[in-house]
Amino acid sequence: MVYAMKLQYRDKEVIILPKVYEPAEDSFLMVEAVLREVQKSDSVLEIGTGSGIISMFVKDIAQVIATDISPQAVKCAKLNGIDVIRADLFDGINVNVKEKFDWIVFNPPYLPSEEQKTDMDALWDGGPNGRATINRFLDQVKDYLTEDGRILLLASSLAGIEQVIAKMESLGLAVDGIMSEKHFFERLVVLRGFVKRT
Ligand SMILES: C[S@@+](CC[C@H](N)C(=O)[O-])C[C@H]1O[C@@H](n2cnc3c(N)ncnc32)[C@H](O)[C@@H]1O
Repeated sequence: MVYAMKLQYRDKEVIILPKVYEPAEDSFLMVEAVLREVQKSDSVLEIGTGSGIISMFVKDIAQVIATDISPQAVKCAKLNGIDVIRADLFDGINVNVKEKFDWIVFNPPYLPSEEQKTDMDALWDGGPNGRATINRFLDQVKDYLTEDGRILLLASSLAGIEQVIAKMESLGLAVDGIMSEKHFFERLVVLRGFVKRT
């Protein structure tokens, strides 16, 4: 028997299956950011949707599809009503969806760790400096943005916020921090990025 947990945030009840990232402060900050930024008629791609909590709120406003590398997360997000495909970052996207997006949203795994020991580690393991998945994401993201497309990316002081900003800028993205929260052991910032046009 598999027991699912339920969590209430704002007006939504979110089902969380075992081995799926349990929404926390980072997830809630991203929810607040999408509620502020995403406009009606925007198209949105969420990478690493986990339980689907962020997309559940986007879905009230705009069209959203999501990916996650974890089969259990895909199952969970579907239970929460999200249109989700299993993919390593953008890998499945070209096959399934032939379009670009006005927003690409990612609350990435960002905890620094030496090696991935269990399948649970993929939920938060960001490699030795915490930025392995973030950097892979940033290297590809521009290919999937519409001309005026933007990204919302969660960054934590545990993985180096300044380093993430520097990487974004080195790829020709303009960046600003639109929301920030200080917690006992980390600072969380939602970074908004868009391609600089000359
Ligand atoms: C920090 S959790 C965030 C989950 C959810 N978006 C939230 O905010 O509660 C990171 C999620 O990214 C997924 N993930 C990790 N590496 C990934 C990759 N290479 N491609 C797609 N998803 C990935 C994990 O399975 C996990 O669900």
